[in-house]
Amino acid sequence: MKPYKVAANMEWTSKCNARCVMCPQGSVENPKLMTRETFDAAMKRINADDLFRVVIAGYGEPTTHPLFMDFITEVGKHPVRFDLVTNGQELDEERLLHIDGKIDLMIISFSSIDPKTYESVHVNLDHERVKNNILLAQKTLKKTQLGISLTPLAKCLDTLPMTIRWLKSNGIHLLTMSPTLYDRGGEMTDQKLSTERLRKTIEEFELHSQEMDFIPSLSDSLQQMWKNKFICMPRNSDIFITSSGEYLYCYNDISHKNTIGHVIELSIRDTLTLREKMGPIDSLCKSCNMLNRYGPSELIKVAGKHLANKRKQHTCAS
Ligand SMILES: C[S@@+](CC[C@H](N)C(=O)[O-])C[C@H]1O[C@@H](n2cnc3c(N)ncnc32)[C@H](O)[C@@H]1O
Ligand code: SF4
Repeated sequence: MKPYKVAANMEWTSKCNARCVMCPQGSVENPKLMTRETFDAAMKRINADDLFRVVIAGYGEPTTHPLFMDFITEVGKHPVRFDLVTNGQELDEERLLHIDGKIDLMIISFSSIDPKTYESVHVNLDHERVKNNILLAQKTLKKTQLGISLTPLAKCLDTLPMTIRWLKSNGIHLLTMSPTLYDRGGEMTDQKLSTERLRKTIEEFELHSQEMDFIPSLSDSLQQMWKNKFICMPRNSDIFITSSGEYLYCYNDISHKNTIGHVIELSIRDTLTLREKMGPIDSLCKSCNMLNRYGPSELIKVAGKHLANKRKQHTCAS
């Protein structure tokens, strides 16, 4: 049997041009830019036997990296699928034309069509500019798919129908949402919506749930569960490469302190093998609201939805 695959989250920078209220980015100690040497080493480690997808995101804004265009050129030559998550502020026609076809899916994070709501969530970003860039991306991208990540915050729900109407009326139909708001160690409790409520919102508005994007196949998920001593689906389905080139024990380790090794020294498979033997880290896992996101009944529901989605995709394709 082939060894299981995971998704990779690749952080080109942990620096950001925004200060979004829900984002733990401000807790990153010593924000950094990935060096060219680290980037090249990471790209050599990334391979289709271990990964089914690489998401360029991390805890920072990838488009602010001074080597953004060069990195995108390299991504375009790589056989593995790369997706990009951005706040959209720094997109322009030159960048979009360069991204087109090299990135599979580009997701722009967007909280609301209402300026007041947007500015209170996406602090430091320019609402008009981001809106215009969403429209420009929709017009410019021919091969790269455009999606929107809607912010899973209570304060965005009132304007959610209006936001969805605006996006759909402009031809943007891939609207996604995370079913969990990472609660930044309890800091977000007043704005926190339960996973159950978020799953209902996702269903009601027919959004695409981001939890589906980390499950490559049922066999991979089962193997991930079987091989890992610690059964934590969010940890085991992903490997995070920090802007310093370290493999993180878990992508929820915002401090970036619990690392397994560096891309220069260790392959992705060796890192996964080392992690399989590692148990929970109390300082990290005890307060994590992702750990219990998948109880047995959630696992069955997620697996059921995953199969239904696959069937739908298959029917659409045939
Ligand atoms: C951390 S950002 C990095 C990429 C880029 N700067 C952006 O904003 O899209 C990646 C995604 O995480 C989402 N995000 C940030 N804080 C979150 C939280 N507390 N819970 C759930 N998603 C969150 C953002 O909305 C964004 O879609
Ligand atoms: S733009 Fe992205 S990384 Fe920056 S603060 Fe907002 S969510 Fe966090």
